[in-house]
Parts: sequence; structure tokens; C-alpha cells
Amino acid sequence: MSSIFSVRGGRPLEGEIAVRGAKNLVSKAMVAALLGETPSVLHSVPDIRDVQIVGKLLELHGVKVDMDLESGTITMDPSVIDKAVTKDIDAHAGSSRIPILFCGPMLHRLGEAVIPDLGGCRIGDRPINYHLDVLREFGAKVEKREAGIYITAPNGLRGTRIELEYPSVGATEQVLLTAVRAQGLTQLKNAAVEPEIEDLIAVLQKMGAVITLQTDRTIEIEGVDRLTGYEHVALPDRIEAASWACAALATKGDIFVRNAQQKGMFAFLNVFRKIGGGIDFREDGIRFFATGKPLKAIAIETDVHPGFMTDWQQPLVVALTQAEGLSIVHETVYENRLGFTAALNEMGGKIQIYRDCLGGSRCRFGRQNFNHSAVISGATPLRGADITVPDLRGGFSYLIAALAAEGVSNIRGIDLIDRGYADFRKKLTALGAEFWEE
Ligand code: EPU
Repeated sequence: MSSIFSVRGGRPLEGEIAVRGAKNLVSKAMVAALLGETPSVLHSVPDIRDVQIVGKLLELHGVKVDMDLESGTITMDPSVIDKAVTKDIDAHAGSSRIPILFCGPMLHRLGEAVIPDLGGCRIGDRPINYHLDVLREFGAKVEKREAGIYITAPNGLRGTRIELEYPSVGATEQVLLTAVRAQGLTQLKNAAVEPEIEDLIAVLQKMGAVITLQTDRTIEIEGVDRLTGYEHVALPDRIEAASWACAALATKGDIFVRNAQQKGMFAFLNVFRKIGGGIDFREDGIRFFATGKPLKAIAIETDVHPGFMTDWQQPLVVALTQAEGLSIVHETVYENRLGFTAALNEMGGKIQIYRDCLGGSRCRFGRQNFNHSAVISGATPLRGADITVPDLRGGFSYLIAALAAEGVSNIRGIDLIDRGYADFRKKLTALGAEFWEE
């Protein structure tokens, strides 16, 4: 795999690409397969590294995994489940946070689970306290050992009442994947209600689970004795769709994102339109384009669904460097997701970051030492630079910046983008980008 990815930017990206199932649903649906007594089949699976990682982890636990990533279908047969060796989990999970979601299913299947060192993007501390608290609530015993965290459930898991301090996506998934087979009723308050969570609920319902989603962020789960496999088509990746939309805007281009869905993207589409992006809704996708008129600055705040997703923030910031006036971005989900702006400044952007909450509301990071608000002063032409990918979404944002910039950019660490953007090289070629790898 090449170590330097070079891009000659300054030309509009134009053409058509397609997105498949959402990374942040597919990986969880794959974990859910562990709960079934019969095989599960998942369609529209993207060919990304996170899918390979979860596939390997399932195999380490004895699941027979058959991946056809060309067609996008994987079959998972969990009839026989085994304990995995901790150091093997470590070796495969190095770059993912998914192993923590194996806990509930493994406790139900084997009575014990292990959490190794967790990876994922470095966009803040990313603690796992909610996950461990939730598991304890279900009656699990959590023990820290040298090799990792050992979790056992000698007396089985029983339904419980939980209220999350923050509507964490991962903690909500932890509750769902644990409660469906726990004894009795579980009530979860202040749950995350992202579309990917609703799709996970759909998967679990197909397996035989009984889950009620109420209007006030409350989810009720009635535990059942057995679950079967499922067949499901994953919902499309709204983060990838928005990333390409921002690439269209920043490069003054025109991209049709096949399979992009309006539902789940309302907040993004409003912002895209308000800053002057063109949108053409079609039955089989959404076309995002620059209208030729100057882009307008905007103030936004990231939030949990149905707010403006944190994962849309980084690609949007690149587009905002091309908007006229002062834009404000208040990141309220992760305390440390604006570090990527330093490289954009080296490319000619004018972005200042602040500890204060510059959005409309005070968030939990206010008055602490977290630079979580940004002021972007535009429009500034971007020029090519040597940059290193910091994390998945930040990395794709650098790619967008390099594509928009005059001259050549040399990007290190591009492989990180393979974690979540399927076939991005092929897609760049289809859109007329000029790039090479050495
Ligand atoms: N948090 C805690 N304790 C916990 C768990 C989370 O304090 O035990 C905090 C986090 O530090 C963060 C906030 O709660 O400040 C929200 O984190 P959340 O649990 O919602 O995030 P996650 O489940 O770890 C998923 C996605 C992220 C996405 C977030 C928010 C996956 C694999 N990851 O992470 O996606 O940004 O939800 O929507 O689903 C990405 O795709 O690049 C990505 C980072």
C-alpha cells in the first residue's frame, strides 16, 4: 500500500458515484448476527476496512463468515460460538471500537466477554464508561485485568432501567444488543435515535426482538428467549453522501450520489442549501452541485440526531473556507474534533479555534480546555500542501481540500480513509480527479 497520495487539485469534481450501506450500521448489524440461532444475511455492505475487521472478529469467535464484497452481501453463520484469544482480538481490533459491542451477545452466548485496547479515530478521549456502566446495570461483573477488561454474567443478564447521561450512539447500541436477550423488560431513557440505530432496531426486530421506540428518546425492550438470523439491506451511508456533497461544493463541481437518501439528512441538506449549494432530489439519489453563485457563510452547531451530525462537520468546514464571510462551527459531540483545521490553514484557510461555546447554546465542553468552536473566514483560495491524515473524517476532508486547492498536495496516511470510504480511488477517477500514489 502506498504511503504518499498526491493530488493535483483545482478542477471541479463532476460525475456520478454510488454509496452503499452505512459503515456505522453495517458493523453493528454484523455484531447482531451473533445473537441469532440461524445464519444472517446482510446486503449493501461496503468494501471498507471496518467491515473486514468485524468479519475477522466474528471469525475469531467461531462465526462462519462468507463475504462477497463485490456484490455487497455477507452471510454470517453463528451456530457455533467460541471464546477468542485476547491477543488475537487485540491484533485485529487495533483500529476499531467495535469489540466493545460484542459484550452483550458474548455474555448471552458464552457467559463471558473480553474487551481489549480499543482503537477508532482519535477525536477526543472516547471513553467507554457508559458501556461498562450499562453492562453492570444488566448484572454483569466487570473486572480489569492486565490483558484487558473481563466481563462475566454468572447469573445471566436481566432487564433494567437506564438513563444515559448523554445520548451516546455506542451506549444505546450496547443496551439494545444486550437487552434483547436479557430477562424481562429494559427501559432506556435519553437514548440516541440516529437513523443507524433505528436500522439496528429493524435488524433486531427481524430476528425476533420486541423493541418500542417512543417519542421522547425512550426505548423499551422486552427480552426474548431466542432470536433467529435476519436478512436485511443496510440503510445508505449518509456520512459518505454528505462528504461527496461537500467535495462537489468545495471544488465547484457537480456530483450525483446514487442511493443517497433525503431521510436522515434533513439537517445537512438545510445547511447545504443555506450556504448556496444546489440540490436535485431524484428517485435513485441526490445530485449536489455548485450553482456558480458565491457561497454564503453560516453558523452551525453539531448535535445528536436529528441535529447536524458531528461526522458532517469536517467535510463541511472545507466547503466553508470557500464561503464569503465568517462561519461559525460549534462542535458539541466530541471535545477534540477541530485539530484538523491547522492543516487547512497551512493550505491557505483562515480558521481560528476557540475554547468557548460559540454556537447558540452552552455545551458540556464549555469552560474547559477544549478547542471546540471554530470561526472560518472566507472565501480563501486553497493551495496544495504536504499533509498527514489525522482521522477518518478529517482525512477525507483533507482530500477534499487537496482536490479544491491549486497545485499538488501530498497526503500521508491515506489508508485511514479506507476504513470508511469504499472504493474512494475508483470514485475519484470517475469524478475526473487527478491523483497518483507512490
Ligand atoms: N462517550 C462517553 N462515554 C462512553 C461513550 C461515549 O463519554 O462510554 C462520549 C464520547 O466521548 C463522545 C460522546 O459520548 O463525546 C458521543 O459518543 P458516541 O458514543 O455517541 O459515539 P460512538 O458510538 O463511539 C459513533 C460513530 C461515530 C460518530 C458518533 C456520533 C460508530 C462506529 N462510530 O461513535 O462515527 O461520530 O457515533 O454520531 O458508529 C465515524 O464514522 O468516523 C465516527 C467517528
